[in-house]
Amino acid sequence: MRLLDKTVVITGGANGIGAVAAALFGKQGAQVAILDFDVHAGEAKAQELHATGVEVAFFQVDVADNDRVKEVANQVIEKFGKVDILVNNAGITKDAMLVKLDAADFKQVIDVNLTGVFNCTQAFLPAMLAQGKGKIINTSSIAGTGGNVGQTNYAASKAGVIGMTKTWAKEFGRKGINVNAVAPGFIETNMIHTIPDKVLEQIKLLTPYSRLGTPEDVANAYLFLASEESDFINGTVLEVDGGMLK
Ligand code: NAI
Repeated sequence: MRLLDKTVVITGGANGIGAVAAALFGKQGAQVAILDFDVHAGEAKAQELHATGVEVAFFQVDVADNDRVKEVANQVIEKFGKVDILVNNAGITKDAMLVKLDAADFKQVIDVNLTGVFNCTQAFLPAMLAQGKGKIINTSSIAGTGGNVGQTNYAASKAGVIGMTKTWAKEFGRKGINVNAVAPGFIETNMIHTIPDKVLEQIKLLTPYSRLGTPEDVANAYLFLASEESDFINGTVLEVDGGMLK
């Protein structure tokens, strides 16, 4: 088991990539704290994992809410006694071409995708600093590395995540904490359901494997960066996009 007795916190763990990753972490021997806005799916996922023998707990939180994140961080540490790995996976899209992009939609995406990562990292970091060891994995996107039409807000948030990742790698590397990012390509989850099938077909053709990514593809990258196998990797952005032509 690659995460035996490790405590993992995963935001956005109720659905999509996060839910698959939560199950994978549990299977690898970790205790799992699922943090998500979606109470219904979060509780169901926790129950499902519990039934397979995973020590798991669900905490309802909006990652954009700094006070609530701090409160939940205390509850997680009270329950599990420590935090070894934080996966900042929660994210949203509110796509529009720049000329039509509503200021409120710009702000909301930044609040969740960028400020949310700041809030959670700041809240869980003291526990990692105290034990002199930890892993932080931030979810960026190929929109953050290369931009994407209709995603001004999302690309800005995901590029910002890379900036914070590289900064924190420098700030905390010497304290035994690795900070890395994963930049997925197009992954089959609810997030891409708004993309028309015709566009998805074109996207597949841009990928040498002629397919979209699966949540498992990304969860496996999280697992590698969460495990001791990646102990000398810090401040990197791991693209999980099947080698898509960009
Ligand atoms: P998803 O929509 O299936 O799951 C996202 C999860 O985050 C949901 O459970 C949702 O309830 C939760 N969430 C949303 N806002 C929240 C908030 N304010 N506080 C707490 N939880 C919140 O999406 P998916 O695809 O699993 O995305 C996971 C991460 O991967 C996101 O950061 C996303 O931006 C990123 N990503 C996804 C890609 C894709 O093609 N699906 C591509 C590149 C990056």
